[in-house]
Amino acid sequence: MAPESESSGLTRRALIGTGVAAGAGLGMVGLPGVAAADDDDPIGRAPERRKGERFMGGVPFERHEVVRVGIIGLGMRGGGMLDRFLATAGVRVTALGDINQTKLDEGAAAVRAAGQPDPALYKGEHAYEKLARRDDVDFIYTATPWEYHHPICISAMENGKHVGTELPLAMNLDDLWDIVRTSERTRRHAFIFHNRSYGLDQLRMLRFVEAGRLGKLLYGSGGYVHDLRELNFSDDHEPAGWRRKWHTRLNANLYPVHGLAPISNAMKITRGDRYDWLIAVASPEAGYSEYRAANMPPDHPSWRERYVTGDTNMCFIQTVQGRFIRSEHDVSAPHPYTRANTLQGSKGKLTEDDRTTAFADRWQVYVEPDHENHRWRLFSDYGAEYDHWLWKAGISNNADQLVVYRTMQLLRLGLPPDIDVYDSATWTAPIPLSHESVKRGSRAVKVPDFTRGHWREDRPNINSEQPAEM
Ligand SMILES: NC(=O)c1ccc[n+]([C@@H]2O[C@H](COP(=O)([O-])OP(=O)(O)OC[C@H]3O[C@@H](n4cnc5c(N)ncnc54)[C@H](O)[C@@H]3O)[C@@H](O)[C@H]2O)c1
Repeated sequence: MAPESESSGLTRRALIGTGVAAGAGLGMVGLPGVAAADDDDPIGRAPERRKGERFMGGVPFERHEVVRVGIIGLGMRGGGMLDRFLATAGVRVTALGDINQTKLDEGAAAVRAAGQPDPALYKGEHAYEKLARRDDVDFIYTATPWEYHHPICISAMENGKHVGTELPLAMNLDDLWDIVRTSERTRRHAFIFHNRSYGLDQLRMLRFVEAGRLGKLLYGSGGYVHDLRELNFSDDHEPAGWRRKWHTRLNANLYPVHGLAPISNAMKITRGDRYDWLIAVASPEAGYSEYRAANMPPDHPSWRERYVTGDTNMCFIQTVQGRFIRSEHDVSAPHPYTRANTLQGSKGKLTEDDRTTAFADRWQVYVEPDHENHRWRLFSDYGAEYDHWLWKAGISNNADQLVVYRTMQLLRLGLPPDIDVYDSATWTAPIPLSHESVKRGSRAVKVPDFTRGHWREDRPNINSEQPAEM
């Protein structure tokens, strides 16, 4: 923990030499009560690379004419994504895993209906291990409860498979490091299969930034502000209530990736900048307790739960280049849905306007010299000039389909992944780090450098050029 005497500023050592750090206080730095992170805090330490562990950034997939896919977890998310894999050229779904026989049978029927041979089926909590051992699987996609993402990633890589997981990558720092190190040792990729990074506005933002339209990037924000009370108290999840139960375990920002990833892509986090330290604050909990009191019968299992996650959790992440990102989480209080994305640069600002109920055309822009008199303009006005090729190429108008299409394309062409293990671990780390910061009275905690020094180098990312056709 930082000594009291350091309680008014940045981690000076981390910023010396970055050039842009000087004067980049941006409102938060230097406030009384914002404690500097302790550079020697073990939480931020990166373990030495062992023999055999080598950086995985920029490492291409091997080429595949047809990608053979195994899918684990066929619930609300995985069931829908199965259809998207089946709708993608050059993909065969060869194996399915779940704990529920009905979901496996429905999944197999969908595979047959798509004209593909019967997939192998694996039922049981640990049956993913057997699925991973098959030799007709190249890539595993998983959409299970969060606690299984780490063991599924590990067993996939140990058995020679690349793996894409729904968010988050894992729930604690040890498991994140385990995934990073296993990836480096086995030379297999493990990453978040992140749909929202492929959104229309999110990709347009990358082109806009690359063209210099926002100038020098200063700060960003992103959140997951989604009232999930009804869903998380329903019987729709399997095992029942798994998502709600995380609210009994951590007082944290439980789902930072949707909001952080697009902003981190724009700031080239892990490719020239990196998260340095984080502080988190949490509100009291009231949403789940009040919802339960109003809606759940006295014999409902939720009455045995004690909720510890503050309804609103707010993190500030300082980067070594002196920028900051605000990350917000709230799934248990009433409010319209928003990912609260904002990106401020020296020449202008992009923002998701969450006062409108429509989801299309939420993003607004204000840039010099195009705009004046404090008037926002729709970001879609810039679409013709700045849309990403994935949206222009007529492949789909849906980010869920595009993440499947693009990842399968990368595997077929033998290119490096757009999103890699370092991005995924970095975007996920605010879960355990925000818990730790709140526990320490909202002190700053260091963010580990999962690249172990390679963050200074650029490498391919999601802001790609269209490859020559297959
Ligand atoms: N990217 C997105 O926009 C998005 C949207 C929704 C959910 N998600 C993510 O998808 C994942 C699943 O969420 P969901 O809403 O579909 O949950 P869900 O409860 O509906 O589905 C989970 C599925 O996993 C199965 N399962 C549970 N334990 C298993 C195990 N050990 N092995 C194999 N299968 C197992 C369940 O039977 C169920 O079919 C979560 O990580 C969630 O965060 C992402």
